[in-house]
Amino acid sequence: MNIAIIGSGNIGAELARKLSAAGHTVRLANSRGVESLKDITEDTTILAVAKEDVTRDANVIILSIPFARNPEAAALVAQAPVGAILVDTSNYYPSRDGRISEVENGKPETVWASEQVGRPLVKAWNAILSQTLVEAGAAPGTPNRIAIPIAGDDLTAKRVVADLVSATGFDTVDAGSLEESWRFQPGSPAYCTELTVEELEVALQKANKERSPLNRDAIMETISAGKVPMTRAAMAANNRQLSN
Ligand SMILES: NC(=O)c1ccc[n+]([C@@H]2O[C@H](COP(=O)([O-])OP(=O)(O)OC[C@H]3O[C@@H](n4cnc5c(N)ncnc54)[C@H](OP(=O)(O)O)[C@@H]3O)[C@@H](O)[C@H]2O)c1
Repeated sequence: MNIAIIGSGNIGAELARKLSAAGHTVRLANSRGVESLKDITEDTTILAVAKEDVTRDANVIILSIPFARNPEAAALVAQAPVGAILVDTSNYYPSRDGRISEVENGKPETVWASEQVGRPLVKAWNAILSQTLVEAGAAPGTPNRIAIPIAGDDLTAKRVVADLVSATGFDTVDAGSLEESWRFQPGSPAYCTELTVEELEVALQKANKERSPLNRDAIMETISAGKVPMTRAAMAANNRQLSN
């Protein structure tokens, strides 16, 4: 498959490594350009490209940029082949992204992102800590394999994305349509809590739309106050404790 990844940060770079290792042709772009991608692409089959060129010929395009920057991706998405599947990994953090009133008023984050880029999106890989993505992948069928939620309106697209998620080491649970994707936004029990398929199904049902943003902010406060060691285990445990 030809996979375009926009964003070469914690998530985008790791997805590029894993998906290229799984045999896909991966083109990676960021905002600074090809030179800045050398460290990531050296000794790999990942192709560093200018962002203006990254979506051409892609079967799947993964947007992995800060939430508020999604509008900037519209021009790149407009060049994408008609049948390409678009994936959004982003999460809204007002402390980083500024306040976006539509999202504050309850519009699911990826519905907003989809409106900004002008194409349907599948939401995936947003509810996994970057450290979990790097360290905790396992082969299909491994007992207690960690699962992550996905959502979207196109079943075929979701099946393709579920296979790609599996290639990166994780099971998936289909959380439903994009309108339902608030169930795994920051502060929800399904968000970055390292659950199995069975546990994740329960967590998605427990989600509370009004409480999640409050939980998100409470979690960020514990982190800013230095109360949570920045280890994967401590962050996942803190998320589990404060997301209800
Ligand atoms: N970190 C996590 O644990 C985690 C987990 C799950 C989901 N997420 C979400 O996934 C998204 C990416 O997270 P991250 O931690 O990987 O972010 P990050 O490390 O800050 O990387 C963001 C990347 O986006 C690129 N970028 C920004 N605007 C762009 C534009 N207009 N065109 C092309 N590239 C652009 C940046 O380019 P430059 O490198 O040139 O600056 C950078 O490579 C965020 O929305 C985040 O909330 C993060």
